[in-house]
Amino acid sequence: MSLLKRIEQGQGQAPRSDGSQPKPASSGSQPGASSGEGGGGSLSSLQARRVSAPTTTPQAGTYFDLKTRVQNKLLAELDPSMDITKTEEVRRTIMGLFEQILNEENIVLSRAERQRLFEQITAEILGFGPLQPLLEDESITEIMVNGPKNIYVERKGKIVRVPVTFEGNDHVMRVIDRIVAPLGRRIDESSPYVDARLPDGSRVNAVIPPIALIGPTLTIRKFSKTPITIEQMVSYGSITPEAVEFLKACVIGACNIVVSGGTGSGKTTLLNVLSGFIPSDERILTIENAAELQLRQEHVVTLESRPANIEGRGEITIRQLVMNALRMRPDRIVVGEIRDEAALDMLQAMNTGHDGSMTTAHSNSPRDTLARLEVMTLMAGMELPVRAIREQISSAVHVICHQERLRDGSRKIVNITEVSGMEGDVITTTDIFVYEQTGVENGKVVGRLRPTGLRPKFMEKIEAAGIHLPPSIFGVGSGRRY
Ligand SMILES: Nc1ncnc2c1ncn2[C@@H]1O[C@H](COP(=O)(O)OP(=O)(O)OP(=O)(O)O)[C@@H](O)[C@H]1O
Ligand SMILES: [Mg+2]
Repeated sequence: MSLLKRIEQGQGQAPRSDGSQPKPASSGSQPGASSGEGGGGSLSSLQARRVSAPTTTPQAGTYFDLKTRVQNKLLAELDPSMDITKTEEVRRTIMGLFEQILNEENIVLSRAERQRLFEQITAEILGFGPLQPLLEDESITEIMVNGPKNIYVERKGKIVRVPVTFEGNDHVMRVIDRIVAPLGRRIDESSPYVDARLPDGSRVNAVIPPIALIGPTLTIRKFSKTPITIEQMVSYGSITPEAVEFLKACVIGACNIVVSGGTGSGKTTLLNVLSGFIPSDERILTIENAAELQLRQEHVVTLESRPANIEGRGEITIRQLVMNALRMRPDRIVVGEIRDEAALDMLQAMNTGHDGSMTTAHSNSPRDTLARLEVMTLMAGMELPVRAIREQISSAVHVICHQERLRDGSRKIVNITEVSGMEGDVITTTDIFVYEQTGVENGKVVGRLRPTGLRPKFMEKIEAAGIHLPPSIFGVGSGRRY
């Protein structure tokens, strides 16, 4: 057995040189400030990004260690002014240096291992192949690679096929390696799917055969350097100015808000916008699987969960982070998405003085959101009676803001619903705003988010914060209806 095999089998692969979850190239609460490092440009940024060789166990002596060592040596020897867009030329130069370093270090590898190590190292230095132009095109918000020949993108809410192809499965695999290698993660038959990030913060999911039957499959949610603003949401018709005023009052008045909707319906975008209403003198703690939120406030602490490494160790869950957050004196806790038993801790945080907390959840309607919260809370395995869970939910959550991606590709807020209390064993809800579709014109959905004329019970909470919303916001009083 060769050295590399032994190292890989014996000690697995370390998650990352610093032991942390993949992060955008930038740090702090503003991910994505630097982008495109994996793509064209000079080599100097990569050299600056050299991975520091691990100094502590368990990583010392691992495959990752070996790779880091060879890679750093290689980066040190490469000419910094070399144009890395000239892929073939750079590959040849890297190959020469690579062989030289292996010889100097007396590292004995089989042909296949040598090739894999070379590909992984090259992956860090060169860009993302055929995906590069799509990544650079700002009008594209999502990229979907369904095997080597079928590539789709989302532009202006519409999914279209693009005339871009890979040479074959191996080529897609090389690009996937380029994405995951710098993060110290691995994808192969034994762990055939992975979540990763691009240097600019874009979210990546890759699934490969034998799980993906059509070939290596990649889904990339591009990180928006300039996140959608509330003004844009109003101009796109996603929300009305009146609903904005109401939601802003809810945030300032420290109501607990759950943003719900289907996949890609715009939950994270809305959560980001709502978080923007939090007064800047409050301490905000954000907890996410992958840091997507971009808050403008200064006093923000960003926490990111971490998957288990290849040995199944080191996982840090959203739930653990929510529990830990309570010891960090937050004024507000903003959780990117609740998808499991972390719901219980989130509800408890909301019920125990951390008012004004926010999160998102996957669901089909506001009522479904309540049902999902209930199921997720049950996942905590505390054997709580359903009624107790419902009471927790109804006293914790003030507002559900439900969003949908409509047929024309537009994203719209379709319900702003108050969680008003309990009747018997049932949680009661009151719609404050409901989207009414009036028709379809030139393929575009026409309608409006209308107030129902009802005011929420928690108005006192809003008024206590010194905000006095005119009755017209709710479509009552001045005879003005929206
Ligand atoms: N109101 C909007 N109008 C137009 N585009 C939007 C709007 N809100 C979000 N988008 C776009 O829709 C895409 C998905 O948005 P977002 O990431 O917020 O969705 P999500 O519901 O959080 O998705 P997921 O379920 O995958 O986490 C992004 O490209 C975003 O820019
Ligand atoms: Mg999201």
